[in-house]
Amino acid sequence: MRFEKKDILDINSLDSQEISLILDTAQGMKEISQRPVKKVPTLRGKTIVLFFHEPSTRTKLSFDTAAKRLSADSISISKSSSSIVKGETLIDTAKNLEAMKPDVIVLRHPSSGAPHLIAKRVKCSVINAGDGIHAHPSQALLDIMSVRENKGKIDGLNISIIGDIAHSRVARSDITGFSKMGAKVTICAPETMIPMGIENLGCTIAPDMETCVEGADVIMMLRIQKERQGNILFPTEREYAALYGLNRARLGLAKKDAIIMHPGPMNRGVEISSDIADSEGSIILEQVTNGVALRMALFYLVAGGSRHADSD
Ligand code: CP
Repeated sequence: MRFEKKDILDINSLDSQEISLILDTAQGMKEISQRPVKKVPTLRGKTIVLFFHEPSTRTKLSFDTAAKRLSADSISISKSSSSIVKGETLIDTAKNLEAMKPDVIVLRHPSSGAPHLIAKRVKCSVINAGDGIHAHPSQALLDIMSVRENKGKIDGLNISIIGDIAHSRVARSDITGFSKMGAKVTICAPETMIPMGIENLGCTIAPDMETCVEGADVIMMLRIQKERQGNILFPTEREYAALYGLNRARLGLAKKDAIIMHPGPMNRGVEISSDIADSEGSIILEQVTNGVALRMALFYLVAGGSRHADSD
């Protein structure tokens, strides 16, 4: 199968076959990171711009690591170090970046739809590294990869997602991706953190945390995104932890071999207790490891794979 997409903007625009191709490609890429010399020449001569308007540890560093492991040249620019602070628009900035002939622009932006806006105006590939509350496709893909690796499948699994769904681009992309791949997704949050119409993405809403985690194969905890909440949407963190935090008692309601996930960064003691975050069932750091392989696969598919085979 050829991968024909120029851009990776959201999970909605990928079909299940494309998702499977990305996961299979990432699985092959993973071995490169286990070699003594973690570098292959696959994208030698390609240029990748990492344009991050918001802070990031995992996403930025794993995209950068992925580019370097494939021998591409990666260049980083942040909002504060760009001429955006002098009033240049995002589109003008993107057109100027394009004039330097990059092959891929990776964009993280606080505004939903920003990567879609520039993708229409530049010839190079655009990868969305998280836009506002809208989408975080590479996170969802690495999450699906991590579950498939641990459970051997996605189809038929019970996936529980708990936390600040309203402000979470990860939740939206994960719900869309996991349900597209045949999982049953159940979400739970205080009513103030459940957006209208979220069921249309392919999930059901549980009335409480206990119902949500009962019989779960996968429990995904999400951070409360205080930076995106105008007014805090619950009285205190202690009350939030008491009603919606993952602790031993609640974990006991899930399947015995349930895995625990979190996209990071975690608020230990709020949405997840420290002993569970560090427990045997936690695959939180495996998610980070898979993030590098998954992003290598995305670079390969948009900048070096079958889309470019005829010109190689
Ligand atoms: N999961 C995630 O997007 O983490 P960062 O914000 O650290 O990139």
